[in-house]
This record gives sequence, structure tokens and C-alpha cells, in this order.
Amino acid sequence: MIVSGKARLAGVLGWPVSHSRSPRLHGFWLEQLDIDGAYLPLPVAPGDLEAVIRALPRMGFRGANVTVPHKEAVMRLVDHLDPLARRIGAVNTLVARDDGSLEGRNTDAYGFFENLRQGCPAWAPASGPAAVIGAGGASRAVVAALTDAGVPEIRLANRSRERAEILAADLGGPVRVVEWSERAGMLDGCALLVNTTTLGMSGQPDLDLDLSALPQTALVNDIVYVPLETDLLARARRRGNPVVDGLGMLLHQAVPGFAAWFGRRPVVSDELRAFVLS
Ligand code: ATR
Repeated sequence: MIVSGKARLAGVLGWPVSHSRSPRLHGFWLEQLDIDGAYLPLPVAPGDLEAVIRALPRMGFRGANVTVPHKEAVMRLVDHLDPLARRIGAVNTLVARDDGSLEGRNTDAYGFFENLRQGCPAWAPASGPAAVIGAGGASRAVVAALTDAGVPEIRLANRSRERAEILAADLGGPVRVVEWSERAGMLDGCALLVNTTTLGMSGQPDLDLDLSALPQTALVNDIVYVPLETDLLARARRRGNPVVDGLGMLLHQAVPGFAAWFGRRPVVSDELRAFVLS
């Protein structure tokens, strides 16, 4: 990759950041679209976050992605906060405005929804209740997306019930909190099941969830993408349910940031999926 003195700049702020797939993902698009730009890993310790955020636009950066552990802290450091980011309680994308101020957005809800829409065009949000497992940061984006898409009911089960209650109170929407011990029963009549917990990820235990009450037509999605085929998705596929894996959420959430920084809207292709996994 060769960049000129006029190259547009962006990157990902995290600590650590070496595991992030975002530089490869954005680098693929920059090369594919032949854009004079660069997207860099930006390792920033929590104590340095404020100084770095202030410096970014002054250093000519068009913006950045924000990842663990900065997604919440960065909310109070931006000049403008997108209403959706405020609702979700996290910022994952920064965009510098022409006047040098910084806007904080959240594109995780968009990424989640685009992954379902493109991964399973037959699924209609209004077709029935959704069951969501987990109430962490990822769940907040998922619940916001489903609410905004018009899903009539969201049944939410989390190991710590209190966290689910807080999420429901913060986000409003058609959320009904279900006891963790009742999670298998809540699948009855659902049109969608989403795992937002870390269970099923390599090195973690699998999600313990009996699928027998879930209609065979229900779409099953896991936001875990390492491995691509989690135990949950494998079991759902075996019983005939349509499934969508979690990699697409990572890829699609990157699209609005790339478009804002580099001026072209990139496409999520099979080639990109294979490249990011390689
Ligand atoms: P993220 O931002 O990726 O969502 P998180 O905020 O740490 O990560 O949330 C992790 C989610 O996985 C939570 O819903 C968590 O449940 P608790 O709120 O009860 O902690 C869930 N989770 C993690 N390990 C779990 C386990 N062993 N059993 C059940 N749920 C688990």
C-alpha cells in the first residue's frame, strides 16, 4: 500500500488493539476501491484516551473506530453524540466534521440488522417475537435495532436478571424480561433467536439452551464469529432452522464509518469474508 501526502486517515482506538480485524477489513476496501487513504491500529491506554481524542482531528484524522475498553468512556469526550449512540450507551465510530469537532456514532445496530437482512432476506421483522439471550453491550445494540425495525415483542433472558431489567428500562421498546431458568420456554412461537453472550466463543463454554420449543422456521443468529459455526448454529441448522453467523455484523458495522471517512460506500462480499477470516 502506498499513500500520498494527501492520504485520508482513520484507525481503530483500543487497548490492546493488536487482535482487531478492522485494519485488515478497511485495508481490503481501500485497496479494492483504489483510495488514497490509510486505516491504522491505534493502541491507546485508558489514561491517554482524552488527549488522543482531542488530537485526532488536529492530526488530520477523518475519524476512527472505537473498541474495547473505550466504547463507553468516549461518549463524554465527543462534541456531538448521535441519539442512537446515546440510547445504546456506547460509541464505536467517530467522524470528524469540517469545523474540527468530533461526532460519536454507534453503527453496531446497523451492522447487526444488515447482517440479518442480507443473510436471510426471507425474515421479516414484524413476523413474530424475537428471543434475545444476554444483556451486555452487544445486546443493547441488538435490542435497539430490533425495536427500531418493528419487531412486535422482544423476550430477553440474561444470567443476571438485573442487567436485563436495566437494559429494558434504558431502551424502552417491546422488551419483556424472562427468567434465565425460563429461557428455553420463551422460544415458543418466536420468529428469531439471537445469542449476544460470549458463550460459544472459542475457549468459552457453549450456550446451554434447549431449542425444542423454537419453531423450525425461526431464524437463528449468533453474534459470536470465532468459530463461525458455533454449537448453537450447528444445532439450529441440524433441526432445519435458517441460520446467519456473526461475521457479517462485524463487516456491516464498518460500512458507515468507511463511507464517512473515505467518501465511497464499500460492499460486503464473500471475498471480503474470506479475506478477513484468513
Ligand atoms: P459484550 O459487550 O460483548 O456484550 P459483556 O458486556 O461482557 O460483553 O456481556 C457479556 C454477556 O454474556 C452478558 O449477557 C453475560 O451475562 P451476565 O450479565 O449475567 O454477566 C453473558 N455471559 C457471559 N458468561 C456467561 C455465562 N457463563 N453464563 C451465562 N451468561 C454469560
